[in-house]
Amino acid sequence: MERAHPDYLFKQFRVPRGCLGYIVADPVTRLTALVDPELEMVEPMVDYVFEHGLRPAYIIDTHTHADHVSGAHILKSRTVAKLVMHREAPCGTVDVRVEDGDMLHLGDLPVKLLHTPGHAKDLVSVMLPSRILTADALLIGSCGRTDLLNGNATRQYHTLYHTYRSLPDGLEVYPGHDYQGRTSSTLGEEKKSNPKMLFEDEEEFVRYMDLENPKKLDPVEHLAEALKANMK
Ligand SMILES: [Fe+2]
Repeated sequence: MERAHPDYLFKQFRVPRGCLGYIVADPVTRLTALVDPELEMVEPMVDYVFEHGLRPAYIIDTHTHADHVSGAHILKSRTVAKLVMHREAPCGTVDVRVEDGDMLHLGDLPVKLLHTPGHAKDLVSVMLPSRILTADALLIGSCGRTDLLNGNATRQYHTLYHTYRSLPDGLEVYPGHDYQGRTSSTLGEEKKSNPKMLFEDEEEFVRYMDLENPKKLDPVEHLAEALKANMK
C-alpha cells in the first residue's frame, strides 16, 4: 500500500506470511531507509528503488528476527546503504549501532530510533513524522511473543505501558507483522482496544506472556534456523 504524504515517500511491503517491511524516502534528496526487508522483499524493494530513482542510505533491521530470515545482508551487498541495528544486536555486519533516542537523517526527514525491548532485547521502533514503525513490539491488536531468545516479558510490559502509552494517540502504527490483512492502526486505537495493553498490572501481564501465551504459538525449536541466519 502506498499512501500520499506531504512530506515523504512511504511504502509498505508485505509477504504472504504476513511480514511487513517499509521504504521511507525524502522526496528532495531521494535518500532512503529500507526497514525490515524480509528475504522475499529484497527483489520488490530493489525494483521500487530503481523505479523511483531512490538513493538507499540505510537498511534498518529493527531487531534480530527469530521467526523469519532477514534480507538485510543481501540488500547491503547490493546497495551502498549502511546496516543500522541497536547496539546490543548480536550481528557482526552492523555499520551503525544505535541506542534509544538516536536520530538518522534522510535529507531533512528525521528518523528517530526508540529502544522498545521485550520481544527482543535489541528491538528499536522507528519514529517518523506522524507514524511509528513498531516492528513486533506492538502489533495491531497484539504484541510480539516474549518467550524467544532475548525476549523478556517485564521489558515488554515497560515498552507497552510506559514507552508507547506516553506517545501521542494520533501516531499511525505500522507493525512488523500482521496476520489479519490490516495495514495500519493508530496508537490511540491500540491503547483503547489492544488486549495486550489492557492488563491490570505488570505481574499479570508477565505471567500471561511467560506461561499462557507460548502454548498458543509455534514451538520455539522450529524457529532456530532463522535466528542463526540472522546472527551471522
Ligand atoms: Fe520478531
